[in-house]
Amino acid sequence: MVAPLRVGIAGLGTVGAAVVRTIEEQARTLSARSGRGIRVVAVTARSKAKKRTLDLDGIDWVNSPLALANDPRIDCFVELMGGSGEPALSAIEAALKNGKSVVTANKALIAKHGLRLAKAAEKHGGALNFEAAVGAAIPVIKTLREGLAGTGVNRVYGILNGTCNYILTRMEQEGLSFAECLKDAQRLGYAEANPSFDVDGHDTAQKLAILASLAFGTKVAQSAVYVEGISSIAPEDLRAADELGYRVKLLGVAVRTPKGIEQRVHPTMVPKSSSIAQVMGVTNAVTIDGEGIPPITLVGPGAGGAATASAVVADIADVARGIRANPFGRPVDRLRDTKKAPMERHEGGYYIRLMARDLPGTVAKIATRLAKEKISLESVVQRHAEGVDATDAAKKASPVPVILITYATSEDAIHRALEAVQRDKVISGRPQVIRIEKN
Ligand code: HSE
Repeated sequence: MVAPLRVGIAGLGTVGAAVVRTIEEQARTLSARSGRGIRVVAVTARSKAKKRTLDLDGIDWVNSPLALANDPRIDCFVELMGGSGEPALSAIEAALKNGKSVVTANKALIAKHGLRLAKAAEKHGGALNFEAAVGAAIPVIKTLREGLAGTGVNRVYGILNGTCNYILTRMEQEGLSFAECLKDAQRLGYAEANPSFDVDGHDTAQKLAILASLAFGTKVAQSAVYVEGISSIAPEDLRAADELGYRVKLLGVAVRTPKGIEQRVHPTMVPKSSSIAQVMGVTNAVTIDGEGIPPITLVGPGAGGAATASAVVADIADVARGIRANPFGRPVDRLRDTKKAPMERHEGGYYIRLMARDLPGTVAKIATRLAKEKISLESVVQRHAEGVDATDAAKKASPVPVILITYATSEDAIHRALEAVQRDKVISGRPQVIRIEKN
């Protein structure tokens, strides 16, 4: 009989509590699948006095994460406190130095200190598993690290933040403003404590940095990710996208280009026919373009206690089985340096919404500026402002939306052309520009 794996859990919030429950409820299945029992023997959390619905009978309380990480009674340290630094960092490092395995759901910590921790895991022989850090219950890390070990990856992209997808879905379906939908997301508990972390794209960037490292064998580096959030998206962009056969999603995209690996997070127009466009509400999804195979899309819950616990417990089961994969899919000294790809050199199609003067020659002027930069247009839509009387010259001079979809071009060509259009004084306000990602 192999002795059970002794687990210590730091953090008893929604996820920590769900992990304790899952291990208890799934004890027989876990033991059958892992070849040995899994037992939570000790826990720690900020407050011992806090009322919990969790039954902690027979589980020891330890006073600090560091004390738990150094406790000789545990084999596997599970970090569910969150935060990109202390106390999680020192506790995980101590656990690894003690030769223990570590399981964490902490995307911020892995994106920031993943390399340092992976080195410690390699040196001391423990596992460092973080499946729950990206897409919660979606087994995307295992897919990239193990399932696709023999497949080159050209691109990995996805909806990695449920809050943003919830907001964009409601804006699109109900014509609501960004601010109204954000308020609802906060009320429903989807958004992070500081919603800017979600809506400005940083949460997605951390998750993308982890996926890019696994997909391309590069060092995990959040600083290499270009980031743009969704707060500038207006309901009229979503309406126009719909009419043109697209949806707008906040995507994290990591792609191999002739100029290097591009990592970027930004609102993106995706064809309505793509798998990723079907993903609505808080659901997450990741598409992987592997060499020689059609794309693989994984869809599922990217947050929540049960969904996150599902991945954490699977990682613990791997530790119980004795699996010690390299955290980023290969030894740390074989990971390549990561460079931030300059967005000016990004190439792709663009959606542009301009508020143009409704006067003869305006669209011709805009088209001339684009042509000068060799930008070819796939479609042009000009609307009349509702209620405008065609005979009323004063009203005709008021701005109307002009929507352009370009074929593939470079980002600096788009910037140069739009600066020239602004100099021509044929538009008011700043142009709205959204990148298009084709499947
Ligand atoms: N705030 C995140 C989201 C939670 O909305 O997806 C999971 O990381």
